[in-house]
Amino acid sequence: MKNHLSIFIFLSILGINIFGSLQRSVVVALPLYTSSRWIVDDEGKRVKLACVNWPSHLETMVAEGLSKQPVDVISKKIISMGFNCVRFTWPLFLATNDSLGLITVKQSFQSLGLSESISGIKVNNPSLLDLPVIQAYQVVVKNLGDNNVMVILDNHISKPGWCCSNYDDNGFFGDKYFDPNLWIKGLTRMATMFNGTSNVVAMSLRNELRGSKQNTNDWYRYMQKGAEAVHSANPNVLVILSGLNYDKDFGFLATKPLNLTFTGKLAFELHWYAFSDGKAWENGNANQVCGSIVSNIMRRGGFLLDQGWPVIMTEWGIDQRGTNVNDNRYLNCIMGVAAELDLDWALWTLTGSYYLREGVMGMDETYGVLDWNWCGIRNSSFIEKISALQTPFQGMQMQNACSIS
Ligand SMILES: *[C@@H]1O[C@H](CO)[C@@H](O)[C@H](O)[C@H]1NC(C)=O
Ligand SMILES: *[C@@H]1O[C@H](CO)[C@@H](O)[C@H](O)[C@H]1NC(C)=O
Ligand SMILES: *[C@@H]1O[C@H](CO)[C@@H](O)[C@H](O)[C@H]1NC(C)=O
Ligand SMILES: *[C@@H]1O[C@H](CO)[C@@H](O)[C@H](O)[C@H]1NC(C)=O
Repeated sequence: MKNHLSIFIFLSILGINIFGSLQRSVVVALPLYTSSRWIVDDEGKRVKLACVNWPSHLETMVAEGLSKQPVDVISKKIISMGFNCVRFTWPLFLATNDSLGLITVKQSFQSLGLSESISGIKVNNPSLLDLPVIQAYQVVVKNLGDNNVMVILDNHISKPGWCCSNYDDNGFFGDKYFDPNLWIKGLTRMATMFNGTSNVVAMSLRNELRGSKQNTNDWYRYMQKGAEAVHSANPNVLVILSGLNYDKDFGFLATKPLNLTFTGKLAFELHWYAFSDGKAWENGNANQVCGSIVSNIMRRGGFLLDQGWPVIMTEWGIDQRGTNVNDNRYLNCIMGVAAELDLDWALWTLTGSYYLREGVMGMDETYGVLDWNWCGIRNSSFIEKISALQTPFQGMQMQNACSIS
C-alpha cells in the first residue's frame, strides 16, 4: 500500500496523467446503485464519481456564472475538464418558500442590486431572465443531462447565502433556519421534481451539519426520516448523508448503524480541506502531518468503506494560485489518499467568480477551476494533476489488487 501511495504522489507532483482521457463522455447506464463500498451503474459496473461543485445556493439562488457564459458552454467546459458529474447546491427555501422560488431570475438580481449581472444574463442566457429561479435551476440540471453530466442535488443551507459558520443559524436541526419538518418537505419537493430526470443520480441531504445544537440522537432521528422521504419520493437517487462537525465526523456510526427500509442506495460524504487543520501543514513536517491527519480521517469516517459503504469526498480543493503552502502540502497528501482508496469525490469548486458573495460583488474564487470570466481554466497544471483521479483505478472485484503494475 505504502509503495503505490508514494508512486501516485510522485506522479501527481510531476503532473503525469496515467489514466486520463479514458473515461471522457462515457454514457453511464442509470440509475446508480451501491454495491458494498462502490457506486455501480444499472448493469453492475463501477461508476467513479469525479464531480465538481457548482454553487447555486447564494442569495440570488441562481447557478453562478450564467452572466458570464451560456449554460451549455459551461456544461461542455465541465466535461472537457474531465469531470463526469456536478454537485449542484440549492438552498432549502428555494423549494419551500414560494415567494422565493417563484420570483424570476431578473427580480432576484434586481432585489440585490446586481444590474451588471442582469445585463450579462441578458447576453449569455437570455431565455432564463424571466423564468422563476426554481425553473432556472431545472434548466441547468437539464442542460447538464444533455451533456451527459450526472448531478448530485446538494441541500447546502436553508437561507440563501454563503455557507458555513457555527453561528449562521443554519447549522443543525432546531436552529432558527433549520426546521426539520420544513427540511423534509423541501427534500420531498426536490426529490419529486426530479423523479424521472435520469441524470439526477443522487441527493445529498444536508451540507456540513455543525454548531452548538449538534447531537447524535437528532442525527439518527432526522437523517433516517429525510432518507426515507427522499427514497419514497424518488427511488432512483442515491441518498448521501453528511456527518457532524462540518461533515468530518461519522465516528458514532461505528457502534450504532442506521436503520433504513431500503438497501443499495446509501452513501456518506466527507469534507476535507487544508484549513480543516489550521496551519498544521505549513507548520509541521508534511509527511507526519499527512500520516496523523489521514489516520484521524479514517477513524472518523474512512472506516465506513471497510464496513461496506461508499464514502464520497464531496468537498476538497486548494487555492489554485499555488501560493498557499498549507494548501500545496495538503494537496499531495489528499491526492495520494484519494488514489489509494480510489475515492469518489467532488472538487470545490467550478466557480470562477460569484455574482455576490459575503457582500462582495463579482468576488473572485481562488479555489475555482474556471477563471474570473468563466472563460478559461484558472490553472491548467492543477487540472492536469487532478485528472489522474478522474478515472477508476480499481474495479469492484479488484479491490485488493495492485492497481499500478
Ligand atoms: C419567504 O421568504 C420571504 C423573503 O425572504 C420572507 O419574507 C418570508 O417570511 C418567507 N416565508 C416563510 C413562510 O418562511
Ligand atoms: C417516480 O418515478 C417512478 C418511475 O421512475 C414512478 O414509478 C414513481 O411512481 C414515481 N414516484 C413518485 C412519488 O412520483
Ligand atoms: C428499525 O425501524 C423499524 C421501523 O422502520 C422498526 O420496526 C425496527 O424496530 C427498527 N430496528 C431497530 C434495530 O431500531
Ligand atoms: C498554477 O499552480 C502552480 C503550482 O501549483 C503555480 O506554480 C502556478 O503559478 C499557478 N499558475 C497560475 C496561473 O496561478
